[in-house]
Amino acid sequence: MILLLLLLVITMIENSGSIETLECKSIFVYGTLRPDDNSGAPWTIEFKQDMVFKKCLFPNGILFYDSYPSVTIITKDNEQDLNKIYKDNQCRGIIGYCATFNKNEGFGEKLSSADAIEEYPSLYNRSLVTVYPIDEENNVIQGEDSIQCHIYHRQNCNRDIVLSDGDWLNRLKYGINVDYQCNYFN
Ligand SMILES: *[C@@H]1O[C@H](CO)[C@@H](O)[C@H](O)[C@H]1NC(C)=O
Repeated sequence: MILLLLLLVITMIENSGSIETLECKSIFVYGTLRPDDNSGAPWTIEFKQDMVFKKCLFPNGILFYDSYPSVTIITKDNEQDLNKIYKDNQCRGIIGYCATFNKNEGFGEKLSSADAIEEYPSLYNRSLVTVYPIDEENNVIQGEDSIQCHIYHRQNCNRDIVLSDGDWLNRLKYGINVDYQCNYFN
């Protein structure tokens, strides 16, 4: 009986994770979900609905290109490899936007639709990270609070193509010429 109760409590604690997830109503977007993305992705316009955007930097990762823009977060497990790539390429983190849901109800559905776009959890994973507001020159704005955001990331994507300035809109500079419209059939 005690064991059963214990199991019940553990299950409840585990499930409470999803409630915490919904408490953070911001998503850091750096690729085809950027409000200014110009790669023709068919989902960008719908994602922008009910969101307000603030330009931000996520310093703790690297932007790779592997079929899609893909962030790998630097963690304890990969820091040796990733710190080397970061240094060798003179990386500067990832430029993007903190997209914050601006309605009181319905963030769960918004997050679910973003999950579907990002093919979470089979293609991308989702975690919470801290990002920093930046100005138009991509300098961190001193005195502005950092923001907690969800981020979609791929820890094991192909690492051959590094976008060292972290800016998906500069992808041509790295030889990336994509138009996602072409690959999409209604
Ligand atoms: C997501 O994270 C889990 C747990 O760390 C891992 O097993 C899985 O391979 C990851 N999926 C992707 C797409 O990276």
